[in-house]
Amino acid sequence: MAAGENPIAMDAGTDAWRLNMICGGADAVARAGVTVIGGSDIRDLDALTGAVAQYGITSIIHLAAWQVPLCRADPATGAAVNVVGTANVFEAARKSKSFQSQIKRITYFSSAAVFGSPSQYPPGPLTDSSPRLPSTHYGAYKVCNEDLAKVYWSEHQIPSIGFRPLTVYGPARDFGVTADPTLAIKAALLGRRFDIRFSGSTDMIYVDDVATAVIAADRATLTGVRTALCVCVCVCDAVSDSLLSVVVVLVVACI
Ligand SMILES: NC(=O)c1ccc[n+]([C@@H]2O[C@H](COP(=O)([O-])OP(=O)(O)OC[C@H]3O[C@@H](n4cnc5c(N)ncnc54)[C@H](O)[C@@H]3O)[C@@H](O)[C@H]2O)c1
Repeated sequence: MAAGENPIAMDAGTDAWRLNMICGGADAVARAGVTVIGGSDIRDLDALTGAVAQYGITSIIHLAAWQVPLCRADPATGAAVNVVGTANVFEAARKSKSFQSQIKRITYFSSAAVFGSPSQYPPGPLTDSSPRLPSTHYGAYKVCNEDLAKVYWSEHQIPSIGFRPLTVYGPARDFGVTADPTLAIKAALLGRRFDIRFSGSTDMIYVDDVATAVIAADRATLTGVRTALCVCVCVCDAVSDSLLSVVVVLVVACI
């Protein structure tokens, strides 16, 4: 937005309260030139292709997904949203080749959930070529999406990059287990107790740094299909208490 872009934001939800909160209200969102299309289901290919044609969209940043608990509770719908939804994004891009404004690139969110537990790997950091060994429905869907992206490059030359973050933290991070560090920071500021529901080490990255990396990826002129093991050195260690120690966050966008 600061660069003068006029993004079209589509979401199944009808209340853009997170966007409004981050931008300082619905008026500020409108003044910034953002068009919000609520009630738009990513499973609806016609709605996606219609929006691409109507607004002359030239690149897509795809974030819509069901998270781990929802996918576990309802795997079929989780697959429809996470996998069919992603296929629809790529299909919309493929169909845009017949429009004047062709989609140049797709930036989408995979996840560190494509990897297995640390015990399945040798000591040391994972790399983007580490084997994908998902242990959840959600992780399996993300693996499928990465492979879909490869097919859309090989068959239709649609460039893409998929980010693989682990724990994103920052304003408006409020849903899913990995939202707990953010909720703990908020609780600490308010002087309240909060118990993080998981323990052990995790990689953490601040939401603004993710946004910076995503915008850089969207503007890149690289071709091909890539994944990026988003992007941080962490630390949130084994906490079950209200105070969280965030040591350092370093962005290394692999683009
Ligand atoms: N937050 C993290 O730490 C993290 C880590 C790894 C990967 N990711 C991935 O990044 C992306 C964004 O994560 P988030 O934390 O913002 O998730 P979120 O759950 O806060 O937001 C997901 C959005 O998708 C929308 N959505 C759900 N079903 C939809 C549908 N059928 N059609 C259209 N929209 C739909 C929801 O309304 C919501 O606004 C997701 O793809 C997620 O899997 C996030």
